[in-house]
Amino acid sequence: MTETTLDLREVPENERSERLTAAFEALPSGGLLFFTTAEDPRRVLRQLITNLWGRFDWAPLKEGDSQWLSQIVKRERPGPTGLEDMLIVEHRRCDDLFAEAEAAAQEGDQERTELLFGRLEMGMERHFTIEEEGFFQEVDQRMGLMGGGPVAVMRDEHQQMRGMLRRMAGALAESNLEDFLAASDTMIYLMEQHNMKEEEMLYPMAEEVLGAEMDELLQRLYLF
Ligand SMILES: [Fe+2]
Ligand SMILES: [Fe+2]
Repeated sequence: MTETTLDLREVPENERSERLTAAFEALPSGGLLFFTTAEDPRRVLRQLITNLWGRFDWAPLKEGDSQWLSQIVKRERPGPTGLEDMLIVEHRRCDDLFAEAEAAAQEGDQERTELLFGRLEMGMERHFTIEEEGFFQEVDQRMGLMGGGPVAVMRDEHQQMRGMLRRMAGALAESNLEDFLAASDTMIYLMEQHNMKEEEMLYPMAEEVLGAEMDELLQRLYLF
């Protein structure tokens, strides 16, 4: 995968979106762009959503300290955005980060494990928030689930996974990579089961009930 980096920290605000768009257009299909901003990148992202919606996937990697790092991937198949492009893409990205963090831990590379685990934690927490505060609520309302049913089960499982992530973070803070790997085995199992239920049951159900309103909802959720 082609990787490009762009530092927008010193770029005046009125030029940021133009610079980011130019860097994006220069990417080959499937290419990856890392960009740094001094503040929350959602401001410049809003512009990108307006201009390039359906053509990219965005994910935050690091926040705060006047150094926010994000990534943008240029979609190989641009088109109308569905749940698959947002939530399932994010599942796969977290799966990959997880596998890489685990491999780094197995090699005893504490620093790389920390870097990858930090990105994973951030990705998972954002994904949980998007689902809990945006997506589940919409599904819940439209299906009249009153907070119960599959959505309640998914919320419970998020809590279990948050607990495992905390355990992994604790082990990493104590440089105990063995414990980190033990916890990650349980976490992988939870994640696989959870994602399968969402991808095979909940998401298709939501596609049906949300129909044409999906696109507007996804544009809103993207900024979470
Ligand atoms: Fe979930
Ligand atoms: Fe999910």
